[in-house]
Amino acid sequence: MIKQLSNLSIEDINSMNYNEIIAITKETNRPPGGRITINDIITNLNITEQTTILEIGTSTGYSALEISRFVKCKIIAIDINDASLEEARARAKTENSFNIQFIKADVMKLPFEKDYFDIILIGNVFSLVSNKETALKECLRVLKQMGFIIAVPMYYVKKPSNILVQKVSEAIRVNITPQYKSDWDSFFKTPYFDLYMEKNYLFDRINDKKITAFVEDILARPHLLQIKKPVLEKLKAKYGEQIKLFRENLSHMGYTIYFLSPKRAWEDPELFTAKKTK
Ligand SMILES: C[S@@+](CC[C@H](N)C(=O)[O-])C[C@H]1O[C@@H](n2cnc3c(N)ncnc32)[C@H](O)[C@@H]1O
Repeated sequence: MIKQLSNLSIEDINSMNYNEIIAITKETNRPPGGRITINDIITNLNITEQTTILEIGTSTGYSALEISRFVKCKIIAIDINDASLEEARARAKTENSFNIQFIKADVMKLPFEKDYFDIILIGNVFSLVSNKETALKECLRVLKQMGFIIAVPMYYVKKPSNILVQKVSEAIRVNITPQYKSDWDSFFKTPYFDLYMEKNYLFDRINDKKITAFVEDILARPHLLQIKKPVLEKLKAKYGEQIKLFRENLSHMGYTIYFLSPKRAWEDPELFTAKKTK
């Protein structure tokens, strides 16, 4: 059950992980790369109103709503966090995006039939689940044979300090083992998929002034005034610290948009590859 903001206690705030905190602040939780990633998906896949898309770990619904801006395809967006889903539904309503269904579901056991979706979008979610192999198998099960999985994992490009990893693990309440691009390449290299295409990015470094302005802007949202004053102070302190921590973490990171398609039984490996010339 979602607790009313006015009933929140300092203990509630202390016990919350980052995803629960942002469901309260209503920060827009994007996939790595935000609009750039959505644009890469839209321009590379022929999405029509008949296309069925599953978005996993939608949070407050950003990717589903952004895709919907371009085409009113059939989208089911899932998350395990009730408060985020409630905010996602409210946002969809204000935009008349009735083509999106926001459902509480776990990627580890998807409540859908085999061969159901044309596209499955999973942003930076594999890093958060208890068994990513099982999650990937579930995605494969509900994906159509000619479909695509778009996965957008983040990874370190520079070795982080142990203290940074420990702090981020505490903030998201998941014990992180630093992952590098080669780890994701091996994870997606299975007998079931072809890597159709990949796009690699490095995160921008954002200066402190911009980070402070962002935090102040989010924390000035009027709905937060329903929270009791000492609890709000605790929320502000925790949120500000977390955002600064994540930005520092991102300065060591990049991400890849992997376009994966199920292997066709008849298709042998490609030798007809090339590099683009100028
Ligand atoms: C970092 S946010 C994702 C933000 C953005 N939508 C993206 O694609 O990267 C991770 C989201 O995944 C959700 N999540 C975590 N474990 C999940 C699971 N087992 N099944 C579905 N969603 C999950 C969290 O509640 C959270 O909202």
